[in-house]
Amino acid sequence: MKKKSLIENFFTIYGNRNNQPVLFFSPGRVNLIGEHTDYNGGFVFPCALNFGTYLAIRKTDDNKLKFHTINFDRNETIDVSSSYISSEKKWVNYPLGVVNEFARNNIRITGLEFLFSGDVPNNAGLSSSASIEMVTAVALNDLFKSGLPLIDLVKMSQRAENKFVGMNCGIMDQFAVGFGKEDHAIFLNCDTLIYEYVPLKLKDHSLIIANTNKKRGLTDSKYNERVAECKKAVELLQPYKKISNLSELNSSEIDLLNKYIEDPVVIRRARHIISENGRTKEAVRVLRKNNIQQFGELMNQSHDSLKNDYEVTGFELDTLVYEARKQPGVAGTRMTGAGFGGCTVSIVEKKYSESFIKKLGKAYSEITGLVADFYLPEIGDGARKMG
Ligand code: GLA
Repeated sequence: MKKKSLIENFFTIYGNRNNQPVLFFSPGRVNLIGEHTDYNGGFVFPCALNFGTYLAIRKTDDNKLKFHTINFDRNETIDVSSSYISSEKKWVNYPLGVVNEFARNNIRITGLEFLFSGDVPNNAGLSSSASIEMVTAVALNDLFKSGLPLIDLVKMSQRAENKFVGMNCGIMDQFAVGFGKEDHAIFLNCDTLIYEYVPLKLKDHSLIIANTNKKRGLTDSKYNERVAECKKAVELLQPYKKISNLSELNSSEIDLLNKYIEDPVVIRRARHIISENGRTKEAVRVLRKNNIQQFGELMNQSHDSLKNDYEVTGFELDTLVYEARKQPGVAGTRMTGAGFGGCTVSIVEKKYSESFIKKLGKAYSEITGLVADFYLPEIGDGARKMG
């Protein structure tokens, strides 16, 4: 959304044209490899996108928090308080959960008018939720001069999602959205939070995101089920091996799973985490050497593991991935984000990009009866105040 029309919309909704709102932006993210590893203390490799959530915000003196979103044309008003409870209107819990985090940190938030407008497709695995949380966190930090470091805003946003929204997500999304850097992906160790920016030089290849447009239901509960299964694996292994998370095991220790765990489902879940960590480290190594083909091959393996071992893909995502692999010039393709629907990410030779989109779109529609959307994103910077 253009700055001018966001401000115009703000005045239409809230009036008082003499008092300008302040504008903030926070991107969405795409994860290139390292899926479902974050809440297991593992490695991820996401990057921030050039589309995301815009927020126009203004202080008031009426002790009310007024939320409005252009995308759904919804609004909600909540009294300022020293602590908040989740709203029945789910969309409000993303920013309200962050306001609550500031309150928990004894930062007094007074009356505010919020207007959100986003161009990250919702519920598509591109972190529209983290984008809303982080744009709120960065804005509150700025308006109330709280001086919190970015990493605290990231952790508060993750906590808001865990406690307020009820999704037990890891830290990847909020981190990527907060720390994103133009033309770079972030190699993050989710245990230590040590990270490195890796230049994303794809040369004659482009990144293509394809949205299944499958309506995702029960994603949060299926996601939380995976979190619980991994926790279970750790508990079952602990009598034999001193670990606090699955990422402390390396590929040579995969045999321990069969030895000490009986449930084949729990074995498969843990196997994905261990193999995905290995692939993610290897993917970063080969990318640094500009080996796009090898990077793509690891993306393919990642998808297959998410399908067979972690079971978070589904018919629509698998169709997009396996039809994509039949197209010329495709280095690699996989689902991205939580799964169960949402998007795939592919690396495709530039000269084939157009035909890839056309042919894959056609095949996908014929097989599933759904229409996929395609995006050719640029890799952008993290959450920030707009000039
Ligand atoms: C969602 C969560 C992240 C991460 C991914 C899967 O996006 O919010 O924390 O677990 O799924 O990698």
